[in-house]
Amino acid sequence: MSKFMDWIDARFPATKMWEEHLSKYYAPKNFNFLYFFGSLALLVLVNQIVTGVWLTMSFTPSAEEAFASVEYIMRDVEYGWILRYLHSTGASAFFVVVYLHMFRGLLYGSYQKPRELVWLFGMLIYLALMAEAFMGYLLPWGQMSYWGAQVIISLFGAIPVIGDDLTQWIRGDYLISGITLNRFFALHVVALPIVILGLVVLHILALHEVGSNNPDGVDIKKKKDENGIPLDGIPFHPYYTVKDIVGVVVFLFVFCAVVFFFPEMGGYFLEKPNFEQANAFKTPEHIAPVWYFTPFYAILRAVPDKLMGVIAMGAAIAVLFVLPWLDRSPVRSMRYKGWISKVFLLVFCISFVILGILGVLAPTPGLTLLSQVCTVLYFAYFLLMPFYTRLEKTKPVPERVTG
Ligand code: HEM
Repeated sequence: MSKFMDWIDARFPATKMWEEHLSKYYAPKNFNFLYFFGSLALLVLVNQIVTGVWLTMSFTPSAEEAFASVEYIMRDVEYGWILRYLHSTGASAFFVVVYLHMFRGLLYGSYQKPRELVWLFGMLIYLALMAEAFMGYLLPWGQMSYWGAQVIISLFGAIPVIGDDLTQWIRGDYLISGITLNRFFALHVVALPIVILGLVVLHILALHEVGSNNPDGVDIKKKKDENGIPLDGIPFHPYYTVKDIVGVVVFLFVFCAVVFFFPEMGGYFLEKPNFEQANAFKTPEHIAPVWYFTPFYAILRAVPDKLMGVIAMGAAIAVLFVLPWLDRSPVRSMRYKGWISKVFLLVFCISFVILGILGVLAPTPGLTLLSQVCTVLYFAYFLLMPFYTRLEKTKPVPERVTG
C-alpha cells in the first residue's frame, strides 16, 4: 500500500492534499453545531447532482413533453418518485442549510478580515444557487413554473431603454416557450452546476488558506506550540470528519421524514398549481415564488414603483457582498460585540422571516405597510453597521478559545 502511495505521490499530490486539507488542517477545537452546515451544504450539493443526473435520464426538455415526462418519472420509472422527491426536497434543504450557514457567518463575524474572500465566494455561490433553483423550477412546466418565470423575467423589462430587448433575449422568444425551457435546461443541468462546483472549491481553498473562524472569533494561529501547531487547533480528520457524521445523521432523519411523508410540504416545497400543466392563457389566482425567494419578492412588492422595486430587490442581495467592509467592530464574534449589534442582528433576522412570510401572502394595504417597515429594518442592519459597530462598547476577547 505504501509503495502504491509513493508511486501516486511521485505523480500526483494525493498525500499532500489529504494532509493540507484534512489530517493536518488544524481547526479550532470549539466548533458548535452551527459549523455542521458547511459540510451539510456539500452533502446536499452531491445529492442534487446525483439525483439530477438520474432525473435527466428520463426527463424530456420540450414544452410538449416536459410535464408528461415528470409524471412518467413519478409513476413509471423505477424509483423515479424517490429521485424526484430527493431532488425537489433537496432544493429547499439547500436553502435551509445555506441560510443557517450564512447566519453562522453573521453571528461570529466570519466574513471579517482575513476571510473576506471566503464570504465573497460564498455570496457568488448563493447567487448561482438562486439562478440554479429558478431555472430548475421552470423545467416541470407546471402552472407555477410558467407564471413564476413570467413574473421574474418580466422584471428585467423595468430596466430603461434595454428592458424589452433584454427580456426577449432571456426568453429567446416573444413569450416563455419551449425555447426558454430548452435553454434553462442546458443552464440548469450543465452550466450552473459547473460554476457552483468551481466556486465551492474556491470557497474552501480560500478558507483553508486563512483557517477557520470559531464561535469566539479568536485567532487560533496567534498561540502555537513548539511545532508550530495552534494550541487550540485539532486536526480536521479524524475529529471533525467524525463529528460531522452526527450532523449528517440528524439531517438525514429530518430530510428523509420530509421526502417520505411530506414531499410537498403543504405546498411550500412543491406548489399546488404546479400539478397542472403550464397554460399561457390561464393565470393562476395567486402567483408566489418558492419560499426561499419570498423575502426578496416581498422587498420588490414593498416599493410601489416597478423599477425602484427591482433596484431595492437587487440592492438587498448586493449589500451582502460588501458586508465585510461595513462591519468596523474591533471584535468578530457576537459573544464580544455590544448590545446594539445583538439587537440589530435579531431585528434583521426577524424582519427577514416576516418578509419571507409576506412574500407568499396576497398583498393588502396593511401587509404592504408591514413589508415596507421590514424592508427598512433589513437595510438598516447593513447601512447603519459602520456606525453602531464603531460606537458600541465591546467586551474584551480572551487570548484562547473558551471551552
Ligand atoms: C453550496 C454552498 C456552500 C457550500 C458547499 C459551503 C461549504 C463550506 C464549508 C465546507 C465550510 C467549512 C465548514 C464550516 O465552516 O461550516 C464553509 C465555511 C464558510 N462558508 Fe460556506 N459553503 C456554501 C455557501 C456559503 C455561502 C452562501 C456563504 C455566505 C455568503 C458562505 C460563507 C462561509 C463562511 C464565512 C465560512 C467560514 C466560516 C468560519 O470559519 O467561521 N458559504 N463553507
